[in-house]
Amino acid sequence: MPENTSEPSLIIAGAGGHGRVCADVARRAGWPVTGFCDPAFDGVPDILGVALLGVREIDLFANWPRDTALFIAIGDNTRRLALADDARRNDIPLAVLVDPSAVVSPSAVMAPGALVMPNATVNAEAVIGRAAVINTASVVEHGARVDEGAHVAPGACMTGESVLGARALLGAHATLLPGIHVGAGATVGAGAVVTSDVPERHTVVGIPARPIRNLQLVHDAG
Ligand SMILES: CC(C)(COP(=O)(O)OP(=O)(O)OC[C@H]1O[C@@H](n2cnc3c(N)ncnc32)[C@H](O)[C@@H]1OP(=O)(O)O)[C@@H](O)C(=O)NCCC(=O)NCCS
Repeated sequence: MPENTSEPSLIIAGAGGHGRVCADVARRAGWPVTGFCDPAFDGVPDILGVALLGVREIDLFANWPRDTALFIAIGDNTRRLALADDARRNDIPLAVLVDPSAVVSPSAVMAPGALVMPNATVNAEAVIGRAAVINTASVVEHGARVDEGAHVAPGACMTGESVLGARALLGAHATLLPGIHVGAGATVGAGAVVTSDVPERHTVVGIPARPIRNLQLVHDAG
């Protein structure tokens, strides 16, 4: 029985690569996974032995099965968070998934829909937001904060008290120095070392990280 909820079984939204990894994590963590929802795989009977319900999870919300939690395994940060909002509006319980190989401090706080992948570490007093992803072998150090819908990619490192804003991506093996803030919707490229704050919706790459794009300017340019 999963420790993080009284719900005995799980439906996973998204049956792509990320969803399949989440199904592995869920099973290792003790969840019976009763189905994937993903219209992209309509007509496919099962994936990895899990039944394909072949519908958008939102179409199930009106008749959500009893004693079943939802986990949203959609890679796109904005779409994942939007679906988490829909689930909340419909009183659908969101599971927290933590791989048994991960280390999560008892003083860390995990919001509904959060994911901690294999060999990741979430240290003391870290705060992991709703539908946030702490991916394989990444590190969230003491007092760091991952806001809702954000993604700490494989091997990335958030050092102490750093902040990753809502829906932001910290790319694979990128590092945030202590106390650095990355704004909402920003992207930190793979391998970057971020030495100064990143404004909302900017993209930075390199060592030290420098901007390559500002979504605000792109949108303003029409
Ligand atoms: C930063 C990133 C988002 C940019 O992607 P993009 O918008 O498609 O940008 P481009 O590939 O057009 O690259 C633009 C420029 O930045 C450079 N660049 C891109 N990513 C870079 C990186 N991670 N480090 C250093 N330079 C990088 C490119 O070489 C290119 O330089 P040029 O203009 O001199 O040729 C992407 O390269 C990246 O690093 N994504 C992170 C992926 C990841 O870790 N995902 C996790 C999945 S679990």
